[in-house]
Amino acid sequence: MRLNTVLISVWLGAIDLCCAQMRTYQDILPEDNLEYNKMEPPKINNQPTSVDIHVTVLGLDSFDESSMSYYADIYVAQTWNDYRLYWPKNMTLEYRFLPVDWLNHIWRPDCFFKNAQEVNLQTVTVPNHYVWLYKNKTILYMVKVTLQLSCPMNFQNFPHDTQECKLMMESLSHTTEDLIFKWNPVVPLRVDKNIKLPQLKLIHSTPGDCTKSYFTGNFTCLKITFELERRLGYHLFNTYIPACLIVIMSDAVEAEKARTRAINIDRFSRVFFPLLFATLNAAYWIKYLK
Ligand SMILES: *[C@@H]1O[C@H](CO)[C@@H](O)[C@H](O)[C@H]1NC(C)=O
Ligand SMILES: *[C@@H]1O[C@H](CO)[C@@H](O)[C@H](O)[C@H]1NC(C)=O
Ligand SMILES: *[C@@H]1O[C@H](CO)[C@@H](O)[C@H](O)[C@H]1NC(C)=O
Repeated sequence: MRLNTVLISVWLGAIDLCCAQMRTYQDILPEDNLEYNKMEPPKINNQPTSVDIHVTVLGLDSFDESSMSYYADIYVAQTWNDYRLYWPKNMTLEYRFLPVDWLNHIWRPDCFFKNAQEVNLQTVTVPNHYVWLYKNKTILYMVKVTLQLSCPMNFQNFPHDTQECKLMMESLSHTTEDLIFKWNPVVPLRVDKNIKLPQLKLIHSTPGDCTKSYFTGNFTCLKITFELERRLGYHLFNTYIPACLIVIMSDAVEAEKARTRAINIDRFSRVFFPLLFATLNAAYWIKYLK
């Protein structure tokens, strides 16, 4: 009988422990849930809520001239403080993981990728995003996405051109009176040093501001500008040299009226040109991959 009582009190103690550990999203809302309006940003002294943004660029690829688009693989970290949230008083941890769907019940910045044609949130092997709640009621929301972004390109100086491609993050519904995105003051942007593109060379990546006025108000916006320069080597091997050779050979054919000669040149070209293209290509790719 006594053992049972001990067991029961241990069990009750476990329930207490569990309850201090937050089980539903309501555990982080103020006691009077009606006080909390998830549509309203947590403004202090009527100042706009500031959301700190950090972006890590993991990869850039498929710069496509015909569709004027490219792909970017990025991590976005958004950090903001919501003083209205509740943190169990006797919880000693510095931060807690929250289930991502709890974000549907609290206020969150409505950041969207302005020039994205397609956004993919990876779900393998687990959905690639998570939420932390710090003791001081700061929320960190981290997400990894693959974006297909549009980039208007200018080919006036092709193939000696440089292109500027942007990635823009804007607030969908909050004006600058309610919400402001700010680059993280310590590390705003990190770009993987190993990014290598076959036809273009990434020269600069610059974080910037693209806040815009619409007739409904000013909307906060941050941008990254990627400056890319075309690699001349690629076009030297794949366009210039083969084109020159074709001109030289066709001139030779023109001058030489003798039929047999022409047939010989024809035969020779059938083998020579494919071989030449293959060799030049191989040379370029070997040099590029080094
Ligand atoms: C947290 O506090 C509650 C009530 O204030 C108490 O019942 C519970 O045991 C405490 N939990 C921990 C882990 O200290
Ligand atoms: C809250 O705590 C985190 C982690 O210790 C810190 O990075 C952040 O600056 C703090 N935020 C505020 C508003 O104090
Ligand atoms: C929007 O921005 C413009 C230029 O920065 C400024 O003149 C204007 O007052 C702003 N409007 C609002 C509603 O904040």
